[in-house]
Formats: sequence, structure tokens, C-alpha cells
Amino acid sequence: MSATARGAAYDVRDLGRADEGRRRTEWAERSMPVLRILRERFSRERPLAGRRLSACLHVTTETANLAVTLKAGGADVALCASNPLSTQDDVAAHLVRDHGIKVFAIKGEDHATYYEHIRAALAHRPDITMDDGADLVGALHMIALNRLDDLEPPVRRWVETLAAVDRKSLVSGVLGSTEETTTGVIRLRAMAKDGVLQFPVIAVNDSDTKHLFDNRYGTGQSTLDGIMRATNLLLAGSTVVVAGYGWCGRGFALRVRGAGANVLVTEIDPLKALEAQMDGYRVVPMAEAARVGDLFVTLTGNVNVIRLEHMRAMKEGAVLANSGHFNVEIDLAGLKGAATGPTAVREFVDEWRLDGKRLFVLADGRLINLAAAEGHPASVMDMSFANQALAAEFVVQRGAMLAKDVHRIPAELDREIARLKLQAMGVTIDTLTPEQQKYLASWDLGT
Ligand SMILES: NC(=O)c1ccc[n+]([C@@H]2O[C@H](COP(=O)([O-])OP(=O)(O)OC[C@H]3O[C@@H](n4cnc5c(N)ncnc54)[C@H](O)[C@@H]3O)[C@@H](O)[C@H]2O)c1
Repeated sequence: MSATARGAAYDVRDLGRADEGRRRTEWAERSMPVLRILRERFSRERPLAGRRLSACLHVTTETANLAVTLKAGGADVALCASNPLSTQDDVAAHLVRDHGIKVFAIKGEDHATYYEHIRAALAHRPDITMDDGADLVGALHMIALNRLDDLEPPVRRWVETLAAVDRKSLVSGVLGSTEETTTGVIRLRAMAKDGVLQFPVIAVNDSDTKHLFDNRYGTGQSTLDGIMRATNLLLAGSTVVVAGYGWCGRGFALRVRGAGANVLVTEIDPLKALEAQMDGYRVVPMAEAARVGDLFVTLTGNVNVIRLEHMRAMKEGAVLANSGHFNVEIDLAGLKGAATGPTAVREFVDEWRLDGKRLFVLADGRLINLAAAEGHPASVMDMSFANQALAAEFVVQRGAMLAKDVHRIPAELDREIARLKLQAMGVTIDTLTPEQQKYLASWDLGT
């Protein structure tokens, strides 16, 4: 564990890498025109002035552009990682050195350091939290419900030093929160359903300009990118099993088919399964897919989707990867109990020996696109993070009036992001004529 001194202003690997991080962040910025427009407005209007904002996001070049935008809006920003493997150390250094942002994130940090960094983000005493997977909000709720045993030790030890009144104000001081991903939104809806949600949350993932593009095209491309960088395998002619045909699964299946693979899809939802079948994929249960797949990729947000019984049925040399939020989709504990290994054969590729066969697990089952590649292309994160910036502004403007529930940003803001993105791409579209407006608004015009 790295020694993050209590009250330290940051914890990054090497400030000497800041120039590299600055150049790469500027490269990403070129593809983020919507966020740029927002940054310019935020600099003028300062909608987040005086607000402390703690963000738990993948520390990438795109996130750096979001953090700078939030700071331009007046926020005092602390940033920790939402995954121990996704941090880009040069970017973390750049944000600290060039923007004074309090970054607590080191690529490959161990479990204890990961939570020590979450502690640091909570100790920033945020008015607004921004999550990708609900780790900050999850910890705040364990504090609110006095379930300290459910906190990870670095957070629990710190909370135990706080007086009851301070613990209370830590939670009650949060005006609202924003959540980036499907898995986080599922957790938050469960909290709202149980009546324990302590403040309103904006589900950025629910915006059309987020999940239709980020989850589908972003995950589709970057998951393929991560697998290619980790393995350099040829996809053409191979059999790829895609578990889950939601937004992420659809995008990945499309890209991997484009690379020439035979794609099998596994699902548990009849509608999604039907859609996959009619999109031209073969839909089979995992037990059947296990016997024929060369590469298995989970994108479900669910737990133990590939279990030991499936791994025992796999072919010699099968490769397993996950691009769902948490590293729970492949039953690694089951594999570790039954197999020998791992042997690291190259970066992000572990070999396991099971029943005399070799199986290869990528990035220890963590998000492959962020562990082995750089996450989504900036152009798609432009829209996701425009949503985040607008959601933070919305929390400041409306948080006090919103119910303690999970909300979307208003539909007109969602459409405005799409309009700005089209404009930046040089795409123009038609507008309704007065006659068409009337026609669409009436019920008495027929054949
Ligand atoms: N890698 C990334 O960068 C990235 C980006 C966005 C979202 N995510 C994460 O990816 C996961 C999926 O997100 P999504 O937006 O596609 O969600 P989604 O809800 O649209 O799709 C998930 C699909 O998985 C299916 N599923 C659930 N359990 C299954 C099982 N046992 N077997 C087969 N299919 C099963 C569901 O029926 C659903 O169709 C989430 O954890 C999300 O947080 C990752």
C-alpha cells in the first residue's frame, strides 16, 4: 500500500510524467468539442463555484478533460480511480501539476490503496459526488446506515475517527450525485427501492446520448482494442462468445463480427436473445458455447456468468475476458480453487492449467478495455462527459428540490448534446415544416 498521508493533496505515481499526460490529454481534447463548448460556458458562468466535487472515475485522458471542465465551472475537484487498473499515471500527474486537481490514483494499486484513495475522496467532504460504479455513494450509504463493518478497512478506520456529528454531516452535506454506468445505476435503483437513498442521483447512463453511444460504440471498439493489444490474436475465422446482448454486448458483437469472427451470443432475457438471433448471431446457452468458443467475453453486469463447469468444458487454449463493470462475471475464485497457476505469459495474459488444458484469463477478469487499452475513444466520451458536466450543474441548480431518487437529466439537455455533437461533426439534419408540426400534433387528419 502506498503511504497516502492523511490530508495529502494528491497521490500519484510520478509527477515527472506530467508533460506526457498533458500532450495526450490535449490530443483527446481535439475530439471532445461538446465538452469544449461547455467548458467555455462554465468558465464564464462558474455554475459550480464554491462547490467541492469528489469524482471516482477511470483516470484517463477523457476524464482529465471532464475534470478540467468541472474546475473551470468553479468546482474544487478531488479525483480517485474507479478501477485499480484503469489509471493512466501520466494523466494523473498532469492533473495535479498543471491544474491543481487532487488526484488519488495509481495504476495497479492494490486493494488497500484503492480504498485509501476512496477515503481521500470522501475526506474532501464533497457537495457533489460523481461515480462510475457507485463506490463513493456505496461507502457514504454504509456510513449513513452505520454499517461500518461493510466498509473496506481503510475507509472504516478513518470513519471510526470521526465524531458522530461529522459522519452525519459528511452524508447530509452531499447535495446530489451523478452515476456513469449501468452497474452503478442498478445499485442505486436498489437503494431507492429499499428507501435508503440519502440524496438524489442523476443517472448519466440513462441519457440517450450516453448509453446509445458510449456503451454500444465505445465499449464495442475499446473492448476489441483491449483484447487485441493484450493478445494480438487473429479474430477472422475464430469463434467468439459474447455473454450479454445489452448495449455493450451489441456493440462488441458488431465489431467482432466485422473483424471476421463467428459470433455466438448467450443471454437470459428472451427479448435480447430474440434481437441477437434476428441480428444474425447464433444464440446458445453458455454450456453449449463453452465447448466451441475460442474467445469468451462477458458484458452483462452480472455475477458468475462463466462458471467452473463452463471452464471445464472449454477447449484447450480458450481465452476469457470481461468488459462488464466488476471483475465478478468470470468465476475466478472457482478457477483458482481448481486450476494451477497463474503463469503470466505476457502482460494482461494469465495462463491457468485446468484438467490438463490451458485457459488464458485476460487482465484478471477486470474491464479489458481499460486495463489493456485506453478505454473508450474521446469522441464518444465527449457526450458521456458532457452529460456528467451538465448533471453536476443540474445538481447544483435543482438538487435541493429533487426527491431522493434516481433521475435522468432533462430530455432537452440530452437532445442539446446530440445537436451539438452533430454540429461538431458537420452533419446537418432537416427541421419540421409548419405543416409537418401540425400533422404530428393532430389526430383528426387521416387518409
Ligand atoms: N467496459 C466498459 O467500458 C463499459 C462501458 C459501459 C458499461 N459497462 C458495463 O458493462 C455491463 C453491461 O452494461 P450494458 O449497458 O450493456 O447493460 P445492459 O443492461 O444493457 O445489458 C446487459 C445484458 O446482459 C444480460 N445478462 C444478464 N445476466 C446474464 C447472464 N447470466 N448471461 C447472459 N446474459 C446476461 C442482460 O439480459 C442484458 O441484456 C455493466 O456492468 C456496465 O456497467 C462497461
